[in-house]
Amino acid sequence: MPIQPPRFDINDPDPRTNFSNNREFADILNVNMSRRRFLQGSAATAATLFLASCAPTTGRSFVSNGKPDLGFDAVSTSVADTVRVPSGYRAQAFLPWGTPLTNPAAIWHGNGQESAASQAEQVGMHHDGMHFFPIDARTTGTNSEEGLLVMNHEYVDPAFLHADGPSAAPRPREQVAKEIAAHGVSVAHIRKSAGNWQLVEGSPYNRRVTGSTPMRMAGPAAGHKKLQTRFSPDGMAARGTLNNCAHGVTPWGTYLTCEENWARCFVNHNELQREQSRYGVATDNGRYYWETATPSRDEFARFNVTPSGTDARSDYRNEANTFGWIVEIDPFDANSTPIKHTMLGRFAHEGIIFAEAVEGEPLVAYSGDDSQFEYIYKFVSAEPYYRATAGSHLLESGTLYVARFNDNGSGEWLPLDLNDPVFQQRARTAQVEFSDQGDVLLNTRLAADLMGATPMDRPEWGAVHPLTGEVYFTLTNNTRRSAEQVDAANPRAENYAGHIIRWNERGDDTFRWDLFLLSGTPGTYTKDTAITLSADNHHACPDGLWFDSSGLLWIQTDMSGAIQGGETYGNNAMLVADAERGLVKRFLTGPIGCEITGVVATPDRRTLFVNVQHPGEGSTPAQASSQWPDGGNSRPRSATVIIEREDGGVIGS
Ligand code: FEO
Ligand code: CA
Ligand code: CA
Ligand code: CA
Repeated sequence: MPIQPPRFDINDPDPRTNFSNNREFADILNVNMSRRRFLQGSAATAATLFLASCAPTTGRSFVSNGKPDLGFDAVSTSVADTVRVPSGYRAQAFLPWGTPLTNPAAIWHGNGQESAASQAEQVGMHHDGMHFFPIDARTTGTNSEEGLLVMNHEYVDPAFLHADGPSAAPRPREQVAKEIAAHGVSVAHIRKSAGNWQLVEGSPYNRRVTGSTPMRMAGPAAGHKKLQTRFSPDGMAARGTLNNCAHGVTPWGTYLTCEENWARCFVNHNELQREQSRYGVATDNGRYYWETATPSRDEFARFNVTPSGTDARSDYRNEANTFGWIVEIDPFDANSTPIKHTMLGRFAHEGIIFAEAVEGEPLVAYSGDDSQFEYIYKFVSAEPYYRATAGSHLLESGTLYVARFNDNGSGEWLPLDLNDPVFQQRARTAQVEFSDQGDVLLNTRLAADLMGATPMDRPEWGAVHPLTGEVYFTLTNNTRRSAEQVDAANPRAENYAGHIIRWNERGDDTFRWDLFLLSGTPGTYTKDTAITLSADNHHACPDGLWFDSSGLLWIQTDMSGAIQGGETYGNNAMLVADAERGLVKRFLTGPIGCEITGVVATPDRRTLFVNVQHPGEGSTPAQASSQWPDGGNSRPRSATVIIEREDGGVIGS
């Protein structure tokens, strides 16, 4: 059987699986109410949040040297095969895919000849979400010259991964093992010496977490009968993390990696269970045909979730249920077992962003489900946060809510809680049964459907303003939204360009929201903020989103298809916004065929790390559309970019 090109276009997300038509539940009254009523955070709240952000254990330490003025000249759109930054800045590729990480002998040859075992000791493919943990993150958190750079590897491109591209199914075991090893997370101990950032070779912190690393399950679904597999008959363990998109950072300084487009790695040739159909598990073949690997081995057979044994403990019918979670990794302990947190829900997690932790208050975090017409969620811990005792246990109990955005600018957080009378009644009315809260979380999307959540235009990254606590979320695009499906929070039909929404919490499971920015061509006007896009900042498909500690908002784009690299928008880019001033400027443009995703600064904000993912996407080594970053006839490869000011100053001025 000839293999279909097993190249996964991450911009073509899993098929739409939400047909719940939740619009009818939404409050569509008061649509004409003025929505220019935002930014109401009090000075006292801002001060509290400001102080909370100084907590040394967060790994997100605050340097109070003011918000830069964005005085640089905006970078124009570009179709060049290079990274462009403003005059006065320099950019340099760092830690590209294939860099030997845990073993200097795992050399990258540049021609796809590396073994699966080598790939498991090299930086993975397709960099995405990323965080810099100062080496002193657990104490003062101020070191800007040494730390752990932790990054996700979202997917693989077999055309560039293997010497001669992917072999046809049945797939050779070595190729499948290499593809699984190129997914996951890299932890890289880095240090600046003589002005140059370098990997600390041989550091005990250097680590790869891959699609086969053993993990343990935690939270209400841990040990659930729907998580029982031949690998873990008690449903307490799982193997690997896949399609790691964006990330999060806990207040106690651990890294969270989020499983996004995992569903189509699995195939069920029989009837799909609801835990599979609502997520898009395949019925013909897995995305990469991993299930066909030969000679067969248990770790590859698990991608075929068709029941074959006498019960769940004798086969892998439940394997796909062990994916779709957020995984916690302690970057400072390379021997630690990653934890899959079921309390944070199961869906196509883009990322997770925490509100600033406040002593004695519950912990709050937000996560988007990046698929067309999916939802935005909020987790609130059951236990209060105390810095002295904060840890993983805070993510194991609490309440998961889903957002409803009313057309009048109000919003509600709807609990997905089997003990909640409204939830119980809605489940009864819809004749949907859940055996327990673990079952609710395994079926998070279904639970959210029942509560009448608002279907969004593909929620991607979130970011919490470090001074005001406002929450911003990118909605990257949704070309399937029809004119009849338009609402105030998703105001454009056939929304190819996307937008950014934001809200203020009101403290009683409600919030007030408005639109920060409609993306699009020059002239695109956002009523709520009176921002009009120009040639200096027009863009499409906002995806990555991050506030630096001064309150500047960094926006990264992930255009695909015809608009990527086209005349109007050029290559994917990164912009920076001062929301308070309504100012947005293009700061960086990427090489050909890439997306820009993942951004973080050192605590002094003098080094900015930015990820370039999949340069040359859609091409092959024989006719590569990009040779970034190595040039010549090299294969393109994802890499981090280090950006600094030539005068050593703070980024953004
Ligand atoms: Fe992996 Fe939603 O971007
Ligand atoms: Ca992409
Ligand atoms: Ca993304
Ligand atoms: Ca995207």
